[in-house]
Amino acid sequence: MCGIVGYIGSGNVYDILIKGLHRLEYRGYDSAGIALVNDAGKLAVYKAKGKVHNLEEYCNDKPKEEAVAGIAHTRWATHGEPSDHNAHPHYSEDGNLALVHNGTIENYQLLKDALIEQGCTFKSETDTEVLVQLIEYIKVKNDCSLLDAVRKALHEVVGAYAIAVLEKDNPDTIIAARKSSPLVVGIGDGEFLLASDATPIVEYTKDVVYLKDEEIAILQRGKPIQLVTLENEKAEIDVKKLELSISQLEKGGFPHFMLKEIFEQPKTLLDCIRGRVIDNGKKVMVNGVIDNKLKFIRAKRIVIVACGTSWHAALIGKYLLQDMCKIPVAVEYASEFRYSRPVLDNNDVVIAISQSGETADTLAAVKIARKMGAFVYGISNVVGSSIPRETDSGTYIHVGPEIGVASTKAFTGQVMVLTMLALSVAQLRGTMTDKEITEIAREILTIPEKVDNILKTLNEKVKNMSLIYTYARNFLYLGRGYSYPVALEGALKLKEISYVHAEGYPAAEMKHGPIALIDEEMPSVIIAPKDHLYDKIVNNVQQVKARGGSIIAVVTEGDDLISQIADHVLEVPKVSECLTPIITSIPLQLISYYIAINKGKNVDMPRNLAKSVTVE
Ligand code: M6R
Repeated sequence: MCGIVGYIGSGNVYDILIKGLHRLEYRGYDSAGIALVNDAGKLAVYKAKGKVHNLEEYCNDKPKEEAVAGIAHTRWATHGEPSDHNAHPHYSEDGNLALVHNGTIENYQLLKDALIEQGCTFKSETDTEVLVQLIEYIKVKNDCSLLDAVRKALHEVVGAYAIAVLEKDNPDTIIAARKSSPLVVGIGDGEFLLASDATPIVEYTKDVVYLKDEEIAILQRGKPIQLVTLENEKAEIDVKKLELSISQLEKGGFPHFMLKEIFEQPKTLLDCIRGRVIDNGKKVMVNGVIDNKLKFIRAKRIVIVACGTSWHAALIGKYLLQDMCKIPVAVEYASEFRYSRPVLDNNDVVIAISQSGETADTLAAVKIARKMGAFVYGISNVVGSSIPRETDSGTYIHVGPEIGVASTKAFTGQVMVLTMLALSVAQLRGTMTDKEITEIAREILTIPEKVDNILKTLNEKVKNMSLIYTYARNFLYLGRGYSYPVALEGALKLKEISYVHAEGYPAAEMKHGPIALIDEEMPSVIIAPKDHLYDKIVNNVQQVKARGGSIIAVVTEGDDLISQIADHVLEVPKVSECLTPIITSIPLQLISYYIAINKGKNVDMPRNLAKSVTVE
């Protein structure tokens, strides 16, 4: 949610910042801007509504070659509509400072009123402009350094921020700080990069420092990085090595990141399983579980918190953990959980699932759960992100960077980790026999190849079929048991990228209301693999058909019952019930992708969305 880039060094500042903005565009893309400072103390800010290429066009004839440092931003609007004047960077009124910001300043109105009383005027509706004006006001009033002014201003602020500030008269320095919004510093050869995540940094250096909450970085030309706290105490500099390659950040011949990521799943699932299902399936080793075995053995209950697609993975996790470990599981939207006055104690294990590891609501839920004494376990994709750092232990899904805003490979990675985690806990709690565990573990090893086959056999079929359904205005997605969260996820995927209304429902619940919607114009996507609820869902399929609704059915190979009723049948290989969600979600990803493409939508950057939701 909003992307920040900064650079100071001898490279071409403008080019590096623009390239960085393109890498971060998935975080927000309603406007973009750049601030450049040169040695003569000229601080220029250029901004444009829309995507980063609009900013590039706008900057074509602007002077930028002499810049020695700069900061840039791609925005996902919170305060004030997407527009040139609300775009970042924001200037202080006297033009001395420029600032970019990710997050929200909750008490901005209070601060703004106080500044207006002091005579400040504002050009935008943003909370960010309040912050830059506040810093400049403190700096002038106290005749102090930029660092001191930033520290003092951040003491006044309630909310979340990642910021970078540039000063006209001090082109040798960028000051950056964070609280609850991510910021990474790349340490190059005589240069520093700064970004919301490591993707703009990786082609310049692998050495990075992840800022912690309430830390300030002082990046000065020709000097080593310095970190201080808001209290001006020296903070430890912990340099990490990036494990990221540039090829992972490119489309690799696919027209969109989303399609690339769908097709990467055979490999990403393999990476996710590697080292965890071992000895040819004899053992499942999820280190975070083994290292904390007493917590999992003694747990009286598991609570899973997440948002969006990760919440759907959490629902599948509930079925897995209850079936395999015989332990009660509650699944909560992190945004509800955090304000629900939750009842937790040290007999609870809380699992937080987040691809980005930065989702504000999930992060807040983690902090609350830990404060209440629960053991908190994170499942994330982004190494070094906030949730893995704030949890007691956890597991990375290892599916590589997910750039498409619609989550695909991260979802199947999350479900795979939850499956292995449940098996690992079942091993410890003795709720499954070794034979049962080995059978599932061996089957897990076959899943990447099965996903590969589904992609090979169904891609063209779904592409052609999607033409028939492109103009349907509503869809119903139905499933039971493990297929119910898959239905929810299928519906979310379609609405996110094609802007078509789609509702996911437990198939049996349909007759309690949604059945009234069914007619020949409302297709239903029914997820009906051969599992213990198969006979039940056949009835639901009949009920839809009886009301004239057309049916796309995802079924197990060789199905001869639903295949006769449905209008379109997408067959997937037979797997054990607990592994069906990974298998059945693949055709649903393809359906949403092709319908959105037929409608001419931007699947990688759908309107109003951003990849990492770091605001409430
Ligand atoms: O990074 P997270 O997994 O915490 O993100 C949670 C949701 O914002 C995310 O899954 C969102 O729903 C995606 N756009 C789904 O495709």
